[in-house]
Amino acid sequence: MSYRYLGNKTRLADWILGVVTSVLAPRASIADPMCGTAAMSKAFARAGYSVTAADALTFPVIHARTRLLAESPPAFAIFGSYDAALAWMRSVAPEPGYFHREFSAEGRPMNGREPRLYFSGHNAAHIDAIRNGIRTLGSAGDLTRIEHSVLLHHLILSTNAVANITGTYGYFRSELSAAALRPLSFEPLEFEPTPGRHVVRQGDVEKIGSELNTDAVYLDPPYTKRQYAGNYHILETLAREDEPEAVGDGGLRPWKEQASEFCYKRSAGHAFRDTLKRLRATHVFISYSEDGQVSESELDSILSDFGKVTMYQLPLARFRSNNRVKDGRVLERLYHVERF
Ligand SMILES: C[S@@+](CC[C@H](N)C(=O)[O-])C[C@H]1O[C@@H](n2cnc3c(N)ncnc32)[C@H](O)[C@@H]1O
Repeated sequence: MSYRYLGNKTRLADWILGVVTSVLAPRASIADPMCGTAAMSKAFARAGYSVTAADALTFPVIHARTRLLAESPPAFAIFGSYDAALAWMRSVAPEPGYFHREFSAEGRPMNGREPRLYFSGHNAAHIDAIRNGIRTLGSAGDLTRIEHSVLLHHLILSTNAVANITGTYGYFRSELSAAALRPLSFEPLEFEPTPGRHVVRQGDVEKIGSELNTDAVYLDPPYTKRQYAGNYHILETLAREDEPEAVGDGGLRPWKEQASEFCYKRSAGHAFRDTLKRLRATHVFISYSEDGQVSESELDSILSDFGKVTMYQLPLARFRSNNRVKDGRVLERLYHVERF
């Protein structure tokens, strides 16, 4: 699954898994409470662990439900089959609505701002038609929970592939790119059963941390000031199936209530401490970058209060320059805390 998402660990999954499996017994349980694309949740499940996946935002929960809980193509009784459900997504007639108005090159945003070029007019109207269809089927009770998630998962992936952005949805490009002019595409997923028992939920890790009854927890918090709720507002709107006010030039949904404490220099250290206090697992693994809001020495001092700390690091090529370039490489760190 190619997915532009800040901190997506797909490229690092084997390395992280290597460390986790060297410590954690086979068939143990592990939580991934900041699961994002659910790349690590899936990797843990494939390795034989029972996984609890969660995130503060809604679209990661949709991904986790699809990637962890759908182990074979859902029946989709209303369409006749999974393939027929995909055929419907491909062929439904475009129907200009909220996405077309607020987020397309042909739109006229409600607040009177210039058209927002996140999508071509055609793609936005196609997205609107699919959203309407899923909402109608959902409210008529024609979809199981997993089927509902699988449709939204597809819609998010296909929307992401044609979004006219440079990386996140913080803003759009000034001209429609070649990728944005391609039609939405819906390729079948590869479903695969995994041996563990998996659970998916939603909530801030600071709140649900104490309810995670797993042998291990893998934390992958944001490490820059970029808030996921704002930078991925369009994916959140797809997952929530709502039509929020689109604010300002960029059309962001109001996101401040979903702001993460891990993104602010003043509160990130406290968020780590607060989270670790709540976790009950014997093993906590934490991904963090050397560029993080919390410095290496501060993080080391926080983690050492909770257990024996081992740090692993991997030099990674940088994708973009920023204020702390070191030979074009950044050190990705994985901490293992074995609780006292
Ligand atoms: C670095 S990303 C995780 C990437 C993920 N491991 C992957 O491979 O796609 C950080 C995630 O943490 C979530 N997040 C931020 N603050 C959170 C909090 N306080 N509680 C739970 N999730 C949070 C964000 O929504 C985002 O999905």
